[in-house]
Amino acid sequence: MADIDHEKKLAALEAVKYVKSGMKVGLGTGSTANLMIQELGRQIAEGLRITGIPSSEKTRKLAIDLGIPLISLEKADRIDLTIDGTDEFDPYMQLIKGGGGALLREKILAYNSDLVIIIADSQKQVKRLGTFKLPVETIPFATYKIEILLNKMGLQPKLRQKDGEHFITDEGNYILDLNIKTITNIPLLETTLKQIPGIVETGLFLDIADFIIVGKGKSTLTLKK
Ligand code: A5P
Repeated sequence: MADIDHEKKLAALEAVKYVKSGMKVGLGTGSTANLMIQELGRQIAEGLRITGIPSSEKTRKLAIDLGIPLISLEKADRIDLTIDGTDEFDPYMQLIKGGGGALLREKILAYNSDLVIIIADSQKQVKRLGTFKLPVETIPFATYKIEILLNKMGLQPKLRQKDGEHFITDEGNYILDLNIKTITNIPLLETTLKQIPGIVETGLFLDIADFIIVGKGKSTLTLKK
């Protein structure tokens, strides 16, 4: 297993230690979250009793394959814990997510969770957010106009493509990936973007993570709020 994959696995296994029988658990999306979901599947086969709420159709399929019982968000009175990956995190535990395109449902689950644990390999750590392009989910009807506006703002939006077509999210929307490298006031950027009609959500997860568990070499490091 490559070092990065091993770090992802270590972080995933450490996060699963917070899962106890009876919990409702938000299940993230992505390669790191998949390792956590696989471990949950393994522990469920050995008697752990939890219910999962998936953050994407990909995660739903994986969880079903692994025999993890699922409920929909509206049926969950509360979510005890959500475990998810990230594309970047900074020293203040602020995140960019959405590389896999599931940012909207991921943010909804995180917002509705008592505890949010982010799992990451050490490469995801950055001094300041913005090496990774910021994904923003947009309503197709508005996307062309939003692109023009974001271009004027210097954010160089790129409409995400998959297999030669526009990438479509689980909620039927598009993703614009933005270059935010030169932006210094990230909270202001978040507020500005959220005020543009047709932008449904951004991949900025600010003050959302309670813990970040980072795989580093052969062990893990836990950052806490
Ligand atoms: C999915 O939309 C993302 O937010 C993922 O959580 C994020 O891209 C991390 O993915 P990896 O664990 O595959 O790096």
